[in-house]
Amino acid sequence: MADDKYPTDSDRRRFVKGVVGGAALSGVLTVGAAAVSSATDPTEAGGGIMEYRSAVRDLGPAPRGLPQIPIEIDDDGYLQGLWPEPETVTAGGQEVVVSETEIAGTEYTTEWYQYCGVQTFEGIAPDADGQDAYFRYPEALPTSEYPWMEEVEGREQINVEQFADYEQWGNEVGDTGVGKPAVATWRSQDVPPEETVPVIIIRSTQVEEAAQEDEWLAETCPQGFIAYLNKCTHFCCVPGYKRLDEAAEYNAENKIYCNCHQSVYDPFNNEPDTFVSLPRPEGE
Ligand code: FES
Repeated sequence: MADDKYPTDSDRRRFVKGVVGGAALSGVLTVGAAAVSSATDPTEAGGGIMEYRSAVRDLGPAPRGLPQIPIEIDDDGYLQGLWPEPETVTAGGQEVVVSETEIAGTEYTTEWYQYCGVQTFEGIAPDADGQDAYFRYPEALPTSEYPWMEEVEGREQINVEQFADYEQWGNEVGDTGVGKPAVATWRSQDVPPEETVPVIIIRSTQVEEAAQEDEWLAETCPQGFIAYLNKCTHFCCVPGYKRLDEAAEYNAENKIYCNCHQSVYDPFNNEPDTFVSLPRPEGE
């Protein structure tokens, strides 16, 4: 589960710097975001203060919520994470390629995922070659925790039909009928394993209900599906939804639980949050 706890050696310095910087700024952001922004203008490719939508952090040392990935479903029922057409803009006096759009009054940008070393991943560059936006099952499927995944193939695209029983699905952790999950990869075709972007997808009636009250969720969570970048905002472990018995000790048996240091995120309590996104390396 913690196999990608740390980015590759070459990324480590940037990662550590980012964690320290983000932690130092997080306390400031709540009281003075405007004052901070002039000191954190993008200096490389993207980065800076981001408002984003997240799975709210319920418990533990994680500084903030898990970033959401808006979902689109194509005509054949395949799920993809929204990756707006890249465009070049001028920011901080230099040209930067960005992938962003407005949804229901929220400025969505793929810079939401620039933390924990992900900002250096090949596929997370807005105009990365050879990457589409479809979610795919990982090569190694977690069939012991999610037995239903025995029905699918690693690297296969994810389809709505595979979640038809989402209202009845359950496993040995937590309650039945609260949400059917899958782990997935995104923008990670033909990249080194350590550059795989991990995603958690859940289809749930709770998402359908929340979307009735929230225009953002109505636009980004079609047919009751919700997706999050599955990188803990504490020290970058990959958390799990209904994957570990011990989650119950933290009232997290039906939530996203990170067993590295017991952070808990509620995938069905989705709210705006703020953080300082790290810049992508220059020229990428
Ligand atoms: S990495 Fe520390 S709680 Fe997730």
